[in-house]
Amino acid sequence: MAVKKIGVITAGGDCPGLNAVIRSVVKRGIVDYNIEAIGFLDGYRGLVENKSIDLTYDRVSGILNAGGTILGSSNRDNPFNFYYDNKQEEPIDVSNLVVENYEKNKLDALVCIGGDGTLTMAHMFAKKGLNVIGVPKTIDNDVQGTDQTFGFDTAVYTATSAIDQIRTTAASHHRVLVVELMGRTAGWLALFSGIASGSDVILIPEIPFNIDSICNFVTDRSTRGKRYSIIACAEGAKPAGGDSIVIENKDKRTGMVRLGGVGNYVAQEIEDKTEISSRTTVLGHLQRGGSPTPSDRILASRYGSKAMELVMDGVFDVTVCLKGNKIENFPLDKVANNPRLVSRDSEFLQIARSVNVSLGE
Ligand code: F6P
Repeated sequence: MAVKKIGVITAGGDCPGLNAVIRSVVKRGIVDYNIEAIGFLDGYRGLVENKSIDLTYDRVSGILNAGGTILGSSNRDNPFNFYYDNKQEEPIDVSNLVVENYEKNKLDALVCIGGDGTLTMAHMFAKKGLNVIGVPKTIDNDVQGTDQTFGFDTAVYTATSAIDQIRTTAASHHRVLVVELMGRTAGWLALFSGIASGSDVILIPEIPFNIDSICNFVTDRSTRGKRYSIIACAEGAKPAGGDSIVIENKDKRTGMVRLGGVGNYVAQEIEDKTEISSRTTVLGHLQRGGSPTPSDRILASRYGSKAMELVMDGVFDVTVCLKGNKIENFPLDKVANNPRLVSRDSEFLQIARSVNVSLGE
């Protein structure tokens, strides 16, 4: 197949490194293969409404270190279940419009940069005949088939720096400080930033917690002279036998709940049960912002370059991925609706336990 023109989208929650991938795909395409590229705006919505910009060499120059995405993104638009606006009562399937716009723009391939939701839809478009390649992004690090998504390293760095800052005030006031971290149903972000910041307790969705065990742990620390404790708590962490705590029940457009509040719950329970003063900090969207770390810039550049290579080789319906230290590819049908969670035998859980971190068990 002679490839002349590709489309690029960034969809789902943003994260640092999106621009680095766009730059890498487009520059590799222009420099090595002399192709043309366009970028659709605001994720899949741009493909539905045929809104795009030309991705010229100059347009992608100078964006390597910029957070966010020059294309805009959305984590609420699904062309198979589409709402033009919030007033619309029922969703409609406009996926054929995406196929039409792909053809109208004479695209030979579409590079979809996104997390599990975006890549699930990418696979559905592959089944409709589009030549799609995925690039796994997300601060949650929960995309199946890859050891690491880009954006994760930067979020771990941001969260770790924030927890480092919190440690001094926790120590001055002899408090328990709970830091609530993003990650949706996966505990990677809390686990990694918890280990990196030397947090005393790490709570992740994959290991439901026992509040009494956490209380005993912080009380024991206190009686041993460690009069403060830091708890890295994933937003999806839940008490044993209970459910995740939500700010908002299912969003009609995404079918997803909005997680949040578990940090306050844990702090309140600790204060009530131990009388140790406890506070919560919710890091929120701070974790998705900022300039990518050098590691993320390199990973994003490797991913972008490999995605372009796969387009030229005619390998589609796959996502690029990191396996060990190699960039490979992985079938999109195995990514779809299948988040990668922390397994009970994860080496990282053992590392945490080996330095006497409580996992709230
Ligand atoms: O998937 C990335 C993520 O930041 C999750 O960690 C978090 O649960 C969710 O997106 C927040 O989404 P929103 O920006 O729509 O509130």
